[in-house]
Amino acid sequence: MKNIETLKNENMNLADKIYILDTTLRDGEQTPGVALTVDEKIQIARKLNNLGVDKIEVGFPASSKGEIESSKKIASLGLDSTLVGLARSLKSDIDAVIDSDLGYVHSFIGTSPLHRDYKLKMPKEKIIETAVDAVEYAKDHGLTVEFSAEDATRTERDFLFDVFGEVVNAGADFLDVPDTVGVLTPIVAHELISDIKSNFSTPISVHFHNDFGLATANSLTALECGANQVHVTVNGLGERTGNCSLEELVITLKVAYGIDLGLDTTRLYSLSHLVGRFTGVKMPVNKPIVGENAFAHESGIHVHGILNNSNTYEPMSPELVGHSRRIVLGKHTGANALKSKLKEYHIDLNDDQFCKVFDEIKSLGDSGKCVTDDDLVAIATIELGSARETPIVIKGLSISSGANVSPTATVKLEIDGVEKETANTGVGPIDAALNAIRNLIQDSIDVELEEYNLEAITGGTDALAEVFVISSDSKGNRSTGRSTNQDIVMASILAVLDSINKLLLIQRVDS
Ligand code: KIV
Ligand code: ZN
Repeated sequence: MKNIETLKNENMNLADKIYILDTTLRDGEQTPGVALTVDEKIQIARKLNNLGVDKIEVGFPASSKGEIESSKKIASLGLDSTLVGLARSLKSDIDAVIDSDLGYVHSFIGTSPLHRDYKLKMPKEKIIETAVDAVEYAKDHGLTVEFSAEDATRTERDFLFDVFGEVVNAGADFLDVPDTVGVLTPIVAHELISDIKSNFSTPISVHFHNDFGLATANSLTALECGANQVHVTVNGLGERTGNCSLEELVITLKVAYGIDLGLDTTRLYSLSHLVGRFTGVKMPVNKPIVGENAFAHESGIHVHGILNNSNTYEPMSPELVGHSRRIVLGKHTGANALKSKLKEYHIDLNDDQFCKVFDEIKSLGDSGKCVTDDDLVAIATIELGSARETPIVIKGLSISSGANVSPTATVKLEIDGVEKETANTGVGPIDAALNAIRNLIQDSIDVELEEYNLEAITGGTDALAEVFVISSDSKGNRSTGRSTNQDIVMASILAVLDSINKLLLIQRVDS
């Protein structure tokens, strides 16, 4: 079998320097339903800069005053990454990029028959003239110019080359090839980029969309054929199904191709989370590199292998991307996994106790339940006999809320056998109840509610509400809590107490 070095030498025409242009703040923000605040854009730009991407497309300044404001603020940060502004091939759009204090314009115009005839209603000659005028204008104003032939992959090859030839003569510094509707496949990408590469000496950039799930594969193929730059987004965000994913491209290059672009990849996981939080687009658990299951193992055979040598069932270490390995307990759990989990929590069980805990985990898994670490600690603690009763139990709740009154909750809890009651207000009844709980438990535990999710799981006004929460304590323990109830305040309180009780049990095992 040939090794990667041989393949590289024989089949690849890699550029000496590969640039990463991140467009999370522009194409990523075009994800349906996503809008970022100026502050969020600044935070993401800083993180991209610290990761080490070469270029950041900060926005489309001509599209709104807010875009100019955020672009200007990012420009004033003095980041190392080159900052890019998008512009149609119009002087006014290029002026907006200049007004945003950006020195690099990404100027585009549609070149395919569909764009010429149905969107721009311009003949070929006019497209060329407009593109050239824009490039010349931007160059005259001292900008670096990347020219995009929008919908390049559905443009007649001879016309695409005519446009590229003219903008190169006008001074374009980069030629970008957008696969605007994501119709490219690797073999076509190979032919197209090789053809462009052999006809133009100007650096080639690619901007591939993910409609068929091939954006990363196509981008890698383009690099193999000599492309100098790839447009990417964090989490693969972008129009419709998104763009080539930053984390997939960078890690595949590093791990599978052995090409280190010099980025601090240990920042990828936290960047993905930050972007997920700001955009509200949460990654599926099976998202490559940054998904919650990327380094999670449940099956007994896999966990056994992982515990001996993580390379058996992982292509790279989770630390490489700032992620962490997770051994998940459930119906496929083997004894080795359970032993390692118990060791992690310093829980010693005798053989009989071990078998009982093992059986309980298997039967929870069989009944379709997800068994978290905290569930395990709670089950094992009960088996050890060290848990008395559930530490905190709700004994009473009354809510007053309505128009022109501050929502107030009176909550009564029994904490380790002692009843306590208090009232507090909040922005709504749930907030008021949680504030009251916080007051009541403050002497027992210091907790923070990290995540709160409320979902109606049946329809109608009598719908069942399901609340899922994640809490953490000051010692870094995290626990989940879940509850289902027709009353959303009650569901919220029970879910929060469920997670707090687990944290208390973990603390008691630890001490
Ligand atoms: O997908 C696309 O064609 C674009 C252009 C603006 C380059 O995002
Ligand atoms: Zn795009």
